[in-house]
Amino acid sequence: MCGIIGKIGPDAGRFVVEGLKALEYRGYDSSGIAFVDSGSVKILKGVGTIDKIVREPPLTDAAIGHTRWATHGGVTDFNAHPHSDCTGKYAVAHNGIIENYADLKSELMNAGHRFRSETDSEVIVHLFEDAVRRGVSYMDALTYTVSKIRGQYALAILTADGHILAARNGAPFLFAKDGDALYVSSDPVPLLFAPDVYRLVDGSLLHLYPGGYELRGSARRVTGISARRVDLGKYRHYMEKEIFEQPRALAETLRYLQTLQRPEISGRVHLVAAGTSYHAALYGEYLLRMQGFDARAFIASEYLYWRGQEPDVLIAISQSGETEDLLSILRNGVSSEVVAITNTPGSTIEEYARDVVYTRAGPEVGVAATKTYTTQLTVLAWLAGIEGLDQLPEAVSQVLKNTSLIEDLSKRVASARSVYFLGRGLHLVTAKEGALKLKEISYIHAEAYPAGESKHGPISLIEDGFPVFFSVGPSVYTETASNVEEMRARGAWTVSVSPNPLGPEDVHIAVPSIPEVLLPVVEIVPLQLLAYNAAVLRGNNPDRPRNLAKSVTVK
Ligand code: F6R
Repeated sequence: MCGIIGKIGPDAGRFVVEGLKALEYRGYDSSGIAFVDSGSVKILKGVGTIDKIVREPPLTDAAIGHTRWATHGGVTDFNAHPHSDCTGKYAVAHNGIIENYADLKSELMNAGHRFRSETDSEVIVHLFEDAVRRGVSYMDALTYTVSKIRGQYALAILTADGHILAARNGAPFLFAKDGDALYVSSDPVPLLFAPDVYRLVDGSLLHLYPGGYELRGSARRVTGISARRVDLGKYRHYMEKEIFEQPRALAETLRYLQTLQRPEISGRVHLVAAGTSYHAALYGEYLLRMQGFDARAFIASEYLYWRGQEPDVLIAISQSGETEDLLSILRNGVSSEVVAITNTPGSTIEEYARDVVYTRAGPEVGVAATKTYTTQLTVLAWLAGIEGLDQLPEAVSQVLKNTSLIEDLSKRVASARSVYFLGRGLHLVTAKEGALKLKEISYIHAEAYPAGESKHGPISLIEDGFPVFFSVGPSVYTETASNVEEMRARGAWTVSVSPNPLGPEDVHIAVPSIPEVLLPVVEIVPLQLLAYNAAVLRGNNPDRPRNLAKSVTVK
């Protein structure tokens, strides 16, 4: 959720400031940088993004930075990271949660330590300070610090003589080497340029110093990170760019799948994921069942409460590969074989997987998932043995060629208080994803419902002009047309997304006529654009929706 970045080497201040910008999609309540300046650690931090806090990057050879998504303590300047110890010689940036911080904090305060924030993280730097004061080495001080804290963390401590100490337990953390320069990051994106990138294995400790490093524990080399530059190009926002990148993302995913042997799937199959990835899981469930598998999709945070039989195969879907609700299931040791689908090579999910299948969407910066969703659907269709996937890039490209109708509709949706998304069968997946997209970036209330079920309750909300979007395919034209009629009879403004018009709807958005089983990959695209346009019209930044973070690494 939060992001950490650090460097030892020339122009470290600039690297950290730029890196923080690249990490802002992880969290952006507050941000800060700690850097070495004339033998002491200076900290600049506060509420807001880094460009509001640091005008000119500091000239330094060692720095760490942090971008925050608040967990413990409100969004205030004091609670922003990095946090300093009492002597001003050390500073910590932390992601995750320290469960026993309250006890540690009172012990440390009784021993005379002064705390400046309400965060759980600040205990780390005071523990480190204590240990170094006893005369132990930095590495031993780090060992002591992590032996005292309980919970989940990735942390980096900067020392006044320009060293960085790092540790991880249950939260992602990487380091990289490029010549003599050394880097740490909670996310692969700012390290795309480096030839050697490693992911710290849980429980490992790292000491970086000018000219080298010491690792206690282990690290895995990360391969397959896309080296493609992540810039906006001609687009206004990353989300817009990522929507338009879908034909290429799909084509690259398909090319990659051609080189891959399909993982073996048999017996009882559970698909587990959160948010948008859960919608992909629902699609996977549908397709696998269609192909005769005993498949069932679950929301990751609900899987804990499943009282039925264990699966033989667990398909874990996560674009980031770091979603804690999902990882906690895998960490608790499912007896089944895990097939992971992720967009992030080197992410934690890989540690638990028998097979990993990547979506080759390239880094997704917009908080709302778009190209990772359509590529997840494609991977799932491939896993289920569905034919005809090569039509997808062109079909999506067709939808993206003519967006003026969607732009028009967005104006009406932008002023709505509430919107329904309805679908039947396979198309209900699209309705759910369409509603989530609109809700999360435009902040308009949106709800998805099975079209047929809508008359059993939700229809009572319908009044004049209430927007209702239907996703529809040939197998459900007739039944869905009746639902459109029912809604219109009560004043709803109805829009269908389908290859052919149903007849009674007010507006029809045409999508190419491809095999129905593949339509969800295509029919979501106009709804992504609808959500994007509505958010922009309402003055929201779709790349950074309030209260959300790209990678949700807490429960
Ligand atoms: C929606 C969205 C979230 C994520 C969810 C799971 O646009 O981005 O709902 O889909 O947090 O994230 P991953 O796929 O990284 O596990």
